[in-house]
Amino acid sequence: MNRREFLQRGSGIVSGMLVLNSRTVFGYEANSAVRHALLGCGNRGTGVATSFAQNTSARVVALADIFADNLAKGHDHFNQVNAGLGQPAIDSKLLFRGPHAFEQLAESKDVDLIQISTPPYFHVQHLETAVASGKHVYCEKPVGIDITQAKHALEIAKKVKPSQSVDVGFQCRMAPPIAALEEKIKAGALGKIATVSGNYNSPASTEKKREGEGPDEYRLRNWLWDRVLSGDILVEQNIHIIDLCNWMVGAHPLKATATGGRNVLTHWGDIWDNYQVDYTYPNDVHFTFASTQFGSDGVFDAGLKLFGSSGSATCPYAGPITITGTNAWSWQDSESTATGSGKFAANGAFLDNLKYADRDKERTFIASIVSGPVHNQIADGVETALSCILGRMAGYQKREVTWEEMLAQIEDWPLGFSLEQFA
Ligand SMILES: NC(=O)c1ccc[n+]([C@@H]2O[C@H](COP(=O)([O-])OP(=O)(O)OC[C@H]3O[C@@H](n4cnc5c(N)ncnc54)[C@H](O)[C@@H]3O)[C@@H](O)[C@H]2O)c1
Repeated sequence: MNRREFLQRGSGIVSGMLVLNSRTVFGYEANSAVRHALLGCGNRGTGVATSFAQNTSARVVALADIFADNLAKGHDHFNQVNAGLGQPAIDSKLLFRGPHAFEQLAESKDVDLIQISTPPYFHVQHLETAVASGKHVYCEKPVGIDITQAKHALEIAKKVKPSQSVDVGFQCRMAPPIAALEEKIKAGALGKIATVSGNYNSPASTEKKREGEGPDEYRLRNWLWDRVLSGDILVEQNIHIIDLCNWMVGAHPLKATATGGRNVLTHWGDIWDNYQVDYTYPNDVHFTFASTQFGSDGVFDAGLKLFGSSGSATCPYAGPITITGTNAWSWQDSESTATGSGKFAANGAFLDNLKYADRDKERTFIASIVSGPVHNQIADGVETALSCILGRMAGYQKREVTWEEMLAQIEDWPLGFSLEQFA
């Protein structure tokens, strides 16, 4: 069975149960569920945890969130999901609320896997606690919003135990058409890569508002508009395309120049609404990347193009994935005209080329937990986060910045308020 067949058949999942050898592997009895906890019951976290429940042997047994309303929403949702799967409702003892919810979750003996889906500023702190607990971890991108956090994450990576599996939420790498393209590029289908271009044009995120909230709560709920909480659009959102470029080129950028700014957005916050970055990779391969994040007219377009001595590759989120030239090839199932393709999905669950990205990512991760080999994707996640930080730094500082210069800079962004007010 090849990788694709393995994933399509559900890596051993039959009628929602996992069929394994009778021996115990990594502490899991055959046919037992992985007890899954969601930290951050928002848009993406809920979508991913629901997909885990529907596509793998993981069962959502615990929830944690800083805010009571989001925790309650998650509780209702996952009780329904569990009921639909013939699973018990979530025990109220496994609901954790407030700024220390992540620590209480990590202490629980009833949890095997923690999914970190909180705003980016908290990822590294939550990762540290989750890794120290010995549980398996699925951490959303980015792994770090500044240099200090990214370097700290590399230290955490060294503490992952041989029995622990840790994934970072770069699900695009697991999308079947994108994985197939990458295999062909790595096998030399394009010849020598000369240059790469990429883009991520997306609508603005919408405001979240709650009656009676103070300015810090408003900021935390609207973290996407805040540089410190999100890392800015290059680090928070555009990271998926920059990650695909690193993966396909097989390296991280050596230096970057960038422009950009806040030309259109007028709402609260300090994120930029556009970036233009020129990255230089080894062998003088240039990656020109442009992004926007504004407007409500539904304009959405994300993808990557690679140009080589033998041909070129086109890799959009929606539309045909192809190689032209000497080794011409195309993915047969891209649905560029299907309903819903080419539309923005705030929770990352896109149709068309990314339709099975989350499912296959989750199945591969659960297989790594149940039967091994385990993953430790923290360092790769940090490398991509730093690639984005490099572009952001070049943009903010309006100059060329090399990888080494970036790492030598002290960048340690303070949150500026205490979470204890939400206890
Ligand atoms: N991989 C993808 O394609 C993809 C897509 C969308 C979002 N994301 C990532 O997922 C994460 C969550 O994004 P979202 O859109 O779900 O945001 P969201 O605002 O909808 O959800 C965040 C949740 O975290 C909670 N929270 C905030 N601070 C917390 C803290 N300190 N402790 C505990 N809970 C806290 C919030 O109350 C909220 O319920 C982000 O890191 C984002 O970058 C990834």
